[in-house]
Amino acid sequence: MVFVASSRILALICFSLLSHQHLRLAAGKCHVDDETGLLAFKSGIAYDPSGMLQSWKAGTDCCTWSGVTCLVGNRVTRLSLYGQPEDPKSFLSGTISSSLSKLRYLDGIYLQNLRNITGTFPELLFDLPVLDFVYIENNKLSGQLPIKIGRLSRLGALSFAGNWFSGTIPSSISELTQLGQLKLSRNLLSGEIPDGIRRLKNLNVLNLDGNRLSGRIPDFFSSFSDLRFLNLTDNRFSGEIPATISALAPKLLYLELGHNALSGKIPDFLGNFSGLDTLDLSWNRLSGVVPKSFKNLTKIFNLVLSHNNLVNPFPEMNVKGIESLDLSYNRFHLGEIPRWVASSPIIYSLKLAGCGIKIKLDDWKPSQTYFYDYIDLSDNEISGSPVILLNRTNYLVGFWGSGNGLRFNMESLRFATKLKYLDLSRNLMFGKVPGSISVLEKLNVSYNHLCGKLPTTKLPASAFLGNDCLCGSPLPPCRV
Ligand SMILES: *[C@@H]1O[C@H](CO)[C@@H](O)[C@H](O)[C@H]1NC(C)=O
Ligand SMILES: *[C@@H]1O[C@H](CO)[C@@H](O)[C@H](O)[C@H]1NC(C)=O
Ligand SMILES: *[C@@H]1O[C@H](CO)[C@@H](O)[C@H](O)[C@H]1NC(C)=O
Ligand SMILES: *[C@@H]1O[C@H](CO)[C@@H](O)[C@H](O)[C@H]1NC(C)=O
Ligand SMILES: *[C@@H]1O[C@H](CO)[C@@H](O)[C@H](O)[C@H]1NC(C)=O
Ligand SMILES: *[C@@H]1O[C@H](CO)[C@@H](O)[C@H](O)[C@H]1NC(C)=O
Repeated sequence: MVFVASSRILALICFSLLSHQHLRLAAGKCHVDDETGLLAFKSGIAYDPSGMLQSWKAGTDCCTWSGVTCLVGNRVTRLSLYGQPEDPKSFLSGTISSSLSKLRYLDGIYLQNLRNITGTFPELLFDLPVLDFVYIENNKLSGQLPIKIGRLSRLGALSFAGNWFSGTIPSSISELTQLGQLKLSRNLLSGEIPDGIRRLKNLNVLNLDGNRLSGRIPDFFSSFSDLRFLNLTDNRFSGEIPATISALAPKLLYLELGHNALSGKIPDFLGNFSGLDTLDLSWNRLSGVVPKSFKNLTKIFNLVLSHNNLVNPFPEMNVKGIESLDLSYNRFHLGEIPRWVASSPIIYSLKLAGCGIKIKLDDWKPSQTYFYDYIDLSDNEISGSPVILLNRTNYLVGFWGSGNGLRFNMESLRFATKLKYLDLSRNLMFGKVPGSISVLEKLNVSYNHLCGKLPTTKLPASAFLGNDCLCGSPLPPCRV
């Protein structure tokens, strides 16, 4: 009897132990290998000023740690740690521990904007059997990309944007045929784009901007039927814009080839990109006219063609609403600010410096002034006064109008509350410098006809040089 009772009690105890165990499993207590791997990662981090890894404590369930996701029962499937860009303390210093390879079920690794993660290419990526997404961005990884990078052939996305990788892009990258996104932006990569990238037929994002890549841009774009974003800005590419880019119409949304050494003409076929949102061809050596076919870029929001050798006539565009336009420093003689620009209901940035504009600024009445943040009309032949414009553009942050024939009394200027940058150097401005300039971060009124004592200012003397009779700090004292 006693025996039976105790065995019943035993059974009861066993049952309750089992069910506790069961409950804990259901709650997803993480696998010991995952815990070990993550704690090794934590010990590779020397400094964590914002406490990003504070919740990572041995013996607690690693599935509850910040940045850790468990699916597949109790296995860690994703590690995602983000530094907040606005918070100067939100970073991690250290290296990526190779023990992360213990996380056998990891399919996504996101170590973004941690800023001070150093070391070479994380070889552990090769040891993770189900890895699919890699975003190790805005850190300080350095050295070369490994020759065997093609072994990561099951990856759907690979980004090492914003690191310090140098050397060439290994040709085995052509084996990453599942990639939808390849981002190697803002590293120190050199050499040519490997032709084998043409085999990555599923790419919808190809960003190699901000490197030292050179040679011609390969003419291999007919391979990519899904490409939406192409960014090769800020490299050393030469030669013409490749003809097969025409195959990317009409799906391509972003085409950014600025800050290179591309030459030749802007191809007519770009007018076929009816869905194009952003076109940046600035800072190249493109010549000739902007094709008439640009009339058909009806959806374009950002058009940046500055710093080339483009000439008139500029096509009458048929845009619903352009947001930003930069045609500065070509060989245009536009005469006027194009009507299709002035009528845009949403434009916030207008840059037409050195465009041969000859208007009286008082006569320019854009249909909307509410959204304007930046207006650059430097180095034109603009006369009159910006007083009315600056009084109407309430949210303007910067106005650049140097090198024109603006003739007005500076004391009549009223600064919108948001205005921070004002450059009216090399004009015909007269009167005194008003005390209201104290709200500006940057001001340049040098080489005008201003006179009188300067108000208190922290601006350097070069902001005021070359006037008729300005005096007082930072210029020499006024004579009494
Ligand atoms: C970044 O990491 C390096 C090496 O780990 C260290 O010397 C440096 O002090 C760190 N920088 C900051 C801002 O913590
Ligand atoms: C393209 O690259 C340039 C240069 O790195 C960068 O400033 C720009 O933001 C990139 N565009 C997009 C859409 O990411
Ligand atoms: C624009 O696209 C149409 C239809 O796809 C094609 O026939 C035409 O040749 C293209 N234009 C240019 C200049 O490539
Ligand atoms: C704009 O597109 C239409 C239809 O797609 C085409 O017929 C026309 O020739 C194009 N205009 C220019 C200037 O390329
Ligand atoms: C500036 O605008 C205000 C109201 O919006 C108006 O009363 C004032 O006359 C304007 N000043 C100038 C110089 O245009
Ligand atoms: C002001 O403009 C002049 C001439 O455009 C230039 O030389 C000078 O460096 C500028 N100074 C500041 C503070 O921007």
